[in-house]
Amino acid sequence: MKKKTGAGLPQLRPGTLLLSLFIFLHCFFTRAQVTIPVETKNTALVIKTDADGRPGIIYFGKRLSDPSEYQHIPGGFRRGDDYSGILNSAYSPAGSRNLVEPALQLKHSDGNLSLDLLYVTHSQERSPGGITFLKVLLKDSKYPVEVTLYYKVYAEEDVIEQWSEIRNLEAGNISMQKYASANLYLSAENYYLRHYHGDWAKEMNPDEVRLTSGIKVLDSKLGTRANLYQPPTFMVSLDKPATENEGRVLMGSLEWSGNFKMDLEVDPLNNLRIIAGINPFASEYTLKPRESFVTPAFLYTYSEQGKGLASRNLHRWARKHRVPDGEGSRLTLLNNWEATYFDFNEEKLAGLIKDTKKLGVDMFLLDDGWFANKYPRNNDRAGLGDWQENVSKLPSGLGFLVKEARASQVKFGIWVEPEMVSPKSELYEKHPDWVVRQPGRSEHLYRNQLVLDLSNPAVQDFVFGVLDNILTRNPEVAFFKWDCNAVIYNAYSAYQTNQSHFYVEYVRGLYKVLDRMKAKYPKLPMMLCSGGGGRVDYGALKYFTEFWLSDNTDPLERIFMQWEYSYFYPAITHDNHVTDWGKQPIKFRTDVAMMGKLGFDIVVSHLNEKDLKFCQDAVAVYKSLSDVIWHGDLYRLADPFENDFSSLMYVNDNKSRAVMFSYQVSNRYGSGSLSPVKMGGLDPGKKYEVKEINLYPGSRSSWSTPRVFSGEYLMTIGVNPEVNVRRSSVVMEISEVK
Ligand code: DGJ
Repeated sequence: MKKKTGAGLPQLRPGTLLLSLFIFLHCFFTRAQVTIPVETKNTALVIKTDADGRPGIIYFGKRLSDPSEYQHIPGGFRRGDDYSGILNSAYSPAGSRNLVEPALQLKHSDGNLSLDLLYVTHSQERSPGGITFLKVLLKDSKYPVEVTLYYKVYAEEDVIEQWSEIRNLEAGNISMQKYASANLYLSAENYYLRHYHGDWAKEMNPDEVRLTSGIKVLDSKLGTRANLYQPPTFMVSLDKPATENEGRVLMGSLEWSGNFKMDLEVDPLNNLRIIAGINPFASEYTLKPRESFVTPAFLYTYSEQGKGLASRNLHRWARKHRVPDGEGSRLTLLNNWEATYFDFNEEKLAGLIKDTKKLGVDMFLLDDGWFANKYPRNNDRAGLGDWQENVSKLPSGLGFLVKEARASQVKFGIWVEPEMVSPKSELYEKHPDWVVRQPGRSEHLYRNQLVLDLSNPAVQDFVFGVLDNILTRNPEVAFFKWDCNAVIYNAYSAYQTNQSHFYVEYVRGLYKVLDRMKAKYPKLPMMLCSGGGGRVDYGALKYFTEFWLSDNTDPLERIFMQWEYSYFYPAITHDNHVTDWGKQPIKFRTDVAMMGKLGFDIVVSHLNEKDLKFCQDAVAVYKSLSDVIWHGDLYRLADPFENDFSSLMYVNDNKSRAVMFSYQVSNRYGSGSLSPVKMGGLDPGKKYEVKEINLYPGSRSSWSTPRVFSGEYLMTIGVNPEVNVRRSSVVMEISEVK
């Protein structure tokens, strides 16, 4: 077939001819402007087509009670000339009149680079759970390329998930250079972006900057554990930096466990364009005729009452609609990683299983080092990929440990890192073509390992098989810690014919494996771990009940880190372990870990009598409070970045019970909570008893004797938890008195 060149009209198929005719008649004769409000309980995003049918965002903000009034809003927050007329595009196409960063950029089958998207139709479905599903169909005015914008609206939680689908109806292949999930348009005097950077053991460091004209890019090109340097989450305050309880703020997050890119562009009209999606870096994607590409969703919520409310919106959404068993319970645990590292045998583990029971937690979690024989996993330089029990460490196999756990009446969980391979492994020797690496170039390792090519279905089968075999042979295994400790260097797949599909197909391959796991083991809890928080996102949290925030478990560091993570992810998903990192007393370490899902990674037998008693009591206290921590609303009361101390509290749904955690974060003389801390989220009309709990054995405080206050008092005046250098962590229980 002769290759078409230039910008001429493409050949249309009969079906698409009819559709084009419809658009032509619709746009050029009727030219009706359509207003489409996308509304949650408190927020509205309003799309309106211009006279030619181009969809633009004319409003994003507080919802109006009369939706018919949206049509009066002056188009696209105009504050001057917009030469293109589409700065506010609901999905900016490249190559036609658009002059700014596109959401979709593609090459047609004839080599033409232009795209101009016009509205065709839209439809809306409501489902009983208060979820509305809106589809807006767009089509290029000349070429048979369609784009559907999807908006899944969770009205009650004030959350929207938005994604797009691009369909090739041309006779030949099209290739997409950029294919974003969402394109938003906000209007304010100023924009303050809070975004995050990090590295191993240094995750979630915030930076808050005023956006100036031009584009600020947040992105990752790491391939896997893609958010090691930067997570796909951010918030933007409008006009002025939002505080906990005041200000306009949008929180956003891309649901994708691979390379991402967010463009935040302050445009010539001083409006903010946000374009979020898969990173187009090295990822040009070809669509064959009749193929379509569905992007991952971009998730966002908007609040006019500060960051606290926005984060509670996300938490409620996550618990109810996203995280497996988000409204259920979690297993407290004892992990052996820091207790033994790779050095263990059956006897040692049997002892730790007994310690699990002694501590009072629900499960023993066996970490790295239990597998591989030809190249035993006795350190991190060998064995990944060879998932058979190591016969010298575990001669009686996992079955023995499962039995020991049963005898001690605790559950048994296990660590895996199934996406990875050590060059020193039988797997590597047998299947070099399953490994991500460039032919003819030297390998570059991260933690002495390489990544398996999950875009290859044979590798997907293998990875699924690793987990499935463990569960088939040991049906009592109750938990997986799914680790992932390497980034992708030398991205190349021996399986893919089109290398620029690799990064996308890797993540799709991973999701295929996780889909199979979910289908076969729907109730199995799993921890998403990546040597720290190098991976968490709401795409992965469809499958994982929880995640490992960081290998840095120094409790002082965690106060800051957990604070920032808590804006995006609810406490029920935070795996916090008490370890020997940090110099703080066991009470401080345990109190900090209690703010999420509590676990221990210590040598229980090394605890002195009082420390052990404290831990045992703390587990019991935690169990009695876990409903409030896991399912309650979070109120941040004193920001550790701005104070000598930090305070936050969780309040249950009917406001009858709450728990407040306070910590000293400064060493300076005289520092601490010098005045009362106002609480949040209580019922002003109720009476509450306030008392300190989780005290170290033998200690007392002025709060050991309960005092009663009204909710109004607690939220207007507050109470002083009296944290200071000597009293560095305080937990208070607040219970309704009838
Ligand atoms: C990194 C994890 O974060 C640790 O908890 C531990 O599981 C190690 N990997 C094991 O190699």
